[in-house]
Amino acid sequence: MNVTDFELIAEILKDRSGLSLNKEKAYLLESRLNPVARKWSFSGFDELAQAIRTKRDEALLVDVTEAMTTNESFFFRDQKPFDQFSNIVLPHLLEARAARRSFRIWSAACSSGQEPYTLAMLLKEQAQKLDGWRVEIIATDLSNEILDKAKEGLYSQFEVQRGLPISLLVKYFTQVGDRWQIDDSLRSMVKYQKFNLLHDFSSLGKFDVVFCRNVLIYFDTPTKTKVLDSISELLPPDGFLYLGGAETVLGTSDQFQIMQGQRGIYSLATDRGEKVKAVG
Ligand SMILES: C[S@@+](CC[C@H](N)C(=O)[O-])C[C@H]1O[C@@H](n2cnc3c(N)ncnc32)[C@H](O)[C@@H]1O
Repeated sequence: MNVTDFELIAEILKDRSGLSLNKEKAYLLESRLNPVARKWSFSGFDELAQAIRTKRDEALLVDVTEAMTTNESFFFRDQKPFDQFSNIVLPHLLEARAARRSFRIWSAACSSGQEPYTLAMLLKEQAQKLDGWRVEIIATDLSNEILDKAKEGLYSQFEVQRGLPISLLVKYFTQVGDRWQIDDSLRSMVKYQKFNLLHDFSSLGKFDVVFCRNVLIYFDTPTKTKVLDSISELLPPDGFLYLGGAETVLGTSDQFQIMQGQRGIYSLATDRGEKVKAVG
């Protein structure tokens, strides 16, 4: 791959998905885009790059962008955030939203659905307490292909073995051939829609809890700041933000602070504009 092709495709990816690729990652372009070249019947990467350069076909650019996303996800990823959800976030919402009996959760880069379905399982496990409540889980992603997989809710043996307790597998999944189908009762709890984190957030409405995990790592700092600042506009003063284990607001956004003693969950900064508080 020549430098011009790399720069052109990297720029397109940055504009369309926020992905920030440096030259050390050039090998990723070829390995991930070769299947796209085959799908479009190009002789190889070079012809694909030429088509990108000359045609700018929207469907081709969508395929290229989606092929470059990393969709790695698993149930109960990192475990602790979901323990915190059950032990801290949910009890808080049950108390603080008792008058209106509703709250909304956003899984902001949901990939193949393991994150929103983990939340659905946790809520289902507390169904008695939530009787009469209206709880919405909105799960969004940039990629059509991965959203189709999420909606289908069909997982391989490998996928259900990663993080999902066997008791919940038995309770909420049915084996179909060599795969596992999640129950309709959980599927119907999650509303999927396509949404690009680079776009305007105003159509989404407000949320009480936002999971934006393991996606900001692919963005450069100004893009992270923009996304985090936009999320802060959607949260009430007692809302919660979850980031991935390798992600932080430190040095990126002063709209959030780490919740005292709860590494991994962020709340709106009490004095937004001031530097983030130290962890308790
Ligand atoms: C590594 S997965 C994270 C999945 C899940 N949140 C988790 O932590 O397991 C990252 C997801 O972010 C999505 N993504 C990448 N860029 C995006 C963007 N600009 N807007 C929305 N989603 C994006 C990808 O399609 C991918 O499914």
